[in-house]
Amino acid sequence: MTRRILEPGVSIIKEKCDLILRDKAEPPTRQELLDLVKDADGLLCLLTEKIDKEVYDAGKKLRVVSTMSVGYDHVDVPEATKRGIYICYTPGVLTDATADFAWTLIMATSRRLVEGDKYVREGKWVISWAPDMLLGYDVYGATLGVVGIGRIGQAVIERSRGFKMKILYYDVIRRTDLEKQFGIEYCEIDDLLKRSDIVTIHVPRSKETIGLINENNLKLMKPSAVLVNTSRGGIVDEKGLYKALSNGWIFAAGLDVHEKEPTLMDDPLLKLPNIILAPHIASATHQSRSKMSEVAALNLVKVLKGEEPPSLVNQDVKNIRPLDKVKMI
Ligand code: DGY
Repeated sequence: MTRRILEPGVSIIKEKCDLILRDKAEPPTRQELLDLVKDADGLLCLLTEKIDKEVYDAGKKLRVVSTMSVGYDHVDVPEATKRGIYICYTPGVLTDATADFAWTLIMATSRRLVEGDKYVREGKWVISWAPDMLLGYDVYGATLGVVGIGRIGQAVIERSRGFKMKILYYDVIRRTDLEKQFGIEYCEIDDLLKRSDIVTIHVPRSKETIGLINENNLKLMKPSAVLVNTSRGGIVDEKGLYKALSNGWIFAAGLDVHEKEPTLMDDPLLKLPNIILAPHIASATHQSRSKMSEVAALNLVKVLKGEEPPSLVNQDVKNIRPLDKVKMI
């Protein structure tokens, strides 16, 4: 285990396995990671660890890599499959926390909450009330553009009901079933950016989605629009976003995920008042992180027991190494 996680994950693993726990707050260095997997049959990692050929080469005995995250863009899945290594993840259990947080950013950016807080603390609030103080834009009745209509995108849409919004969505696959269920409209990405008042991103990071929102298409958005990203850094091109926010192409943005994490202190975005920057905390609730810990640990233990894990990424690995051949505990 590359770092201590919340319970019950540690206890679940300890009950069945000899646990080597790297009990430190920061992610392992590359060398620490390579050393950690040397004699391991299973690895429980976080999204901060790059799991690639070098790791699989170092971990000759690896049968399962279980990441405590829903995203697995840090894991080389095809290579693992070739080698008969099971890759597991934690979908579902962080959907609600993440959707709640997307809404936190939507509300806070549209209504300038962080700017308002700073205004009060810095003693700038000297006129008791003013008709044009810290004006934002209505969320109620606005058009919401949802980029990515998976579990989290859908949970964001469910939460929009009380706001009587028009919902547009974009995804690589059109979902007519969800169009009927939620009364939402499919559009191509540029059309969605043009027409939405609020855009929220919920796609995984891949070759196809890196730079999906960029300088060119940010220019299409409304000057009153708000952009929120709680999925992965890099999907919004940050140079383009800086231009959009500083030139008034859009009104505000809220990012929980960044091209570089942690962000560097000389990142120009830090200087802008109209962006809220959160440190990748969308799933950070007691409930969600405990559930993630439980699913990640169960995934690992189940594979080593030769049983179906709750959430397997590479189903086709079973053709290379069936579960009964993995069984060792
Ligand atoms: C994930 O799980 O992929 C999130 O980014 C962190 O919870």
